[in-house]
Amino acid sequence: MRYRVAPSLMCADLLRLADQLKELERAGVDYLHIDVMDGHFVPNLALNLDLARQVQAYTEVPLDVHLMVKNPETYIEAVRTLTPQRVSFHVEATTNPIRLVRALKGGKTQVGLAINPATPLETLNYLLDEIDYVLVMTVEPGFAGQAFIPEMLCKITCLERIAIARKKQVEIEVDGNLNSKWASECIQHGASVLVAGTSSVFRGDGNLYEACIAFRREIDFLRPESERPVAQSC
Ligand code: DX5
Ligand code: ZN
Repeated sequence: MRYRVAPSLMCADLLRLADQLKELERAGVDYLHIDVMDGHFVPNLALNLDLARQVQAYTEVPLDVHLMVKNPETYIEAVRTLTPQRVSFHVEATTNPIRLVRALKGGKTQVGLAINPATPLETLNYLLDEIDYVLVMTVEPGFAGQAFIPEMLCKITCLERIAIARKKQVEIEVDGNLNSKWASECIQHGASVLVAGTSSVFRGDGNLYEACIAFRREIDFLRPESERPVAQSC
């Protein structure tokens, strides 16, 4: 299984965003990860759907929108208008996740549920049939540059096992401190989409294109292409 890379635009140099988008596109990244924050669900404000719309008009790379907001229901119309390739919201942020998943689905949009480190997997059990992917936070949401929480590796494995037991294909995306070591570990534990921030492609040393190529090279070195992820013990 080929993993996919989604650079996190909150870590980009916003004053050079157009150039950076072209570099990411040239490097063949799979998605552009857009952290939408409201200053309430997380104590930060990063990007928003207006910027997402401009990015979408400027590049061919599909958008992976991550809503880190309270009351994500209020974003339904804006997301529908945008029709990103992927959109996720936090299971902690709403009391009616099924209704919201169904409202967001449609056209080419895949819908995922994001889950904070503190939230047990059981919260998702009854929702797996509704969704296309789970976004497992490997740091507390809201800020770049935090340390990976190693216990999240077990969470990834357990989630993969639950999905297999239910004969349900649920893709696992991971978000937070994914340097090549942790990215490789996450893949080995069952993840297939990696959000890439300040720990990898936006490290700030050298150009973005080179950083993307180097990131893939480092992961491939740590994990041979032929190696099928095997669930590790929890
Ligand atoms: C965390 C954000 C991530 C973050 C990842 O709340 O969702 O996108 O920027 O980047 P690093 O590698 O800085 O953790
Ligand atoms: Zn994110």
